[in-house]
Amino acid sequence: MIIAIPKENFNNETRVSCPPNSVKELIKNGYEVHFETGCGLASSISDDDYKSVGAKLMKDSSTLYHKSDIVLKVNYPSLDEIKLLKRDSTLISFFQTTRNLKEVQALKDKNITGFSMHLVPRTTLAQKMDALSSQANIAGYKSVLMAASRLGIYMPLLMTAAGTIRPAKVLILGAGVAGLQAIATAKRLGAQVEVFDVRPVVKEQVESLGARFIEVESDSNEGVGDGGYAKETSEDYKKRQEQLIHDHISKSNIVITTALIPGKPAPILIPKAMVESMKPGSIIMDLASENGGNCELTKKDDTIIHNKVVIDGTSNIPGTMPIHASELYGKNITALLLYMSKDGELNLDLDDEITSGSMFTYKGEITHEQAKIALEAQK
Ligand code: NAI
Repeated sequence: MIIAIPKENFNNETRVSCPPNSVKELIKNGYEVHFETGCGLASSISDDDYKSVGAKLMKDSSTLYHKSDIVLKVNYPSLDEIKLLKRDSTLISFFQTTRNLKEVQALKDKNITGFSMHLVPRTTLAQKMDALSSQANIAGYKSVLMAASRLGIYMPLLMTAAGTIRPAKVLILGAGVAGLQAIATAKRLGAQVEVFDVRPVVKEQVESLGARFIEVESDSNEGVGDGGYAKETSEDYKKRQEQLIHDHISKSNIVITTALIPGKPAPILIPKAMVESMKPGSIIMDLASENGGNCELTKKDDTIIHNKVVIDGTSNIPGTMPIHASELYGKNITALLLYMSKDGELNLDLDDEITSGSMFTYKGEITHEQAKIALEAQK
């Protein structure tokens, strides 16, 4: 079977789905690999690097897709790309199956088997396939460095001959994978870190990284949803949460927001009035910008200044570290594909939790329930 590695065509994309190290692994397992010329350039990988591990160069995406049985991508394909895909072939990429509905429909209509890296179950067995985590880790780490490099003050406590410098204060909203890595990075740089999350269970993890957990007094676990994810909270909780964040944000120099609720727009945790209570020169890194943002003023893929506060809405922070982002993504996608393969062929076990959990289209049907519901609701 032939695997395709195309050049990503989103504007701000620098990653490639499968770098040479992972290609080697696929070839060793019996696959033939074709790549589009220049697909790795933005990740510092040349065509020769691909050729040296045995992959075959294709001069453009239409030649590439025309022959391929399995396409590995970072981002979901455009409708034009889907037109080029071979009928009955297989696609694996990040894919928001409840949002990119036209593309879901187009894949279904071409009998393409679709797997989304967003849907890989968060189980122990699937950890090496967990691209959400590998990329969120990068986003958490790099967001702190991006904020620190713009800040007009030091991060650590310093005792100098000219006097004592107090450490910067960092507030992190949401302590999932990105939030925890942001805590660890900010702590390494010497900042004082405070953290808020609706899931009280993360308190211990936050404290073990040396940060302070701030919490809304509540008798119930009302922010705790299924599968370790968050769910929407009551209006009363939201009011108390807003007051808590307000009290802490006005003293912070950096705010990193990562709060997400599966299947919903990101919750607004920082309304405009709260931004206006912040210190001049402080910075908000809104890692939830792809899903609407946690700050009311965030503009996706733009940086704005409001009342002397910088609000950065870069959605593809992993793309600012393309070498490691591609390396880790390549390992994740290769692990998923090889898990579903035998002797260089796809060997799908539909009763398997990882295979069926990650799949969203198969044999002309949409197999992901939420995508079906979203499509129905559109009619
Ligand atoms: P996520 O990206 O869905 O959300 C980020 C964080 O935002 C979460 O901690 C969530 O509780 C928090 N949040 C949501 N609404 C909020 C609000 N209104 N205010 C403050 N915080 C809010 O989460 P992520 O990073 O994808 O992790 C989700 C869960 O999956 C976690 O429990 C994590 O430990 C678990 N996980 C398990 C893995 C495994 O077992 N293999 C691998 C990776 C994650």
